[in-house]
Amino acid sequence: MDQDQKYNLLLAIKETVVSCQKCGLYKTRILPVVGQGNHNAQIMFIGEAPGANEDKTGVPFCGRAGEILNLLLTSVGIKREDVYIANILKDRPPANRKPATEEITACTAYLLRQIAIIEPKIIATLGNYATHFILEKFGVPDSQLGISRLRGKKFPVQDPTTQNPYIIIPLYHPAVAVYNSRSLDELKSDFKIIGEQLKSAGDNL
Ligand code: URA
Repeated sequence: MDQDQKYNLLLAIKETVVSCQKCGLYKTRILPVVGQGNHNAQIMFIGEAPGANEDKTGVPFCGRAGEILNLLLTSVGIKREDVYIANILKDRPPANRKPATEEITACTAYLLRQIAIIEPKIIATLGNYATHFILEKFGVPDSQLGISRLRGKKFPVQDPTTQNPYIIIPLYHPAVAVYNSRSLDELKSDFKIIGEQLKSAGDNL
């Protein structure tokens, strides 16, 4: 797919999300957080849902968890502008409560379309919600194990619709490292796996 096609398809998703009323979250959010980054990214990061800062700006991972994500990217020499970042939910759940099943069901068709358009080599899922959704969607057995059992593992899958191959790598959610230095160390070590996988994806271009 060429640049213009990608741009137009992603723009069409954005326009649909802005007026989406498939679940009730549009009533309480300020701005939807559709996704941000490079349309040709080799890696997509998928988080849970916008928080207060993201809700105000429309930019994913722009608060405390975003600072940790930026630090982790820098630690392995990945530039934020080279990746694409999105969430399971486009709208902030009130008071940052966890996503409800019906909200995930309503919202994730947008995310799956974004993945199919961007065609990343690697999908890095951040935390339990993103990991469980993506692993299950791509038919990985044991998809519902806790993130501490899945983190840092590589799951090669093929999209049944587009036939695109992806390597899914689950990670802890960066928010766990805001007050926990051990989790930060574990995240740093898992990001090295991301860095290596990205390098080998680049070598195979
Ligand atoms: N946490 C998430 O999961 N996503 C964001 O965009 C911000 C915080």
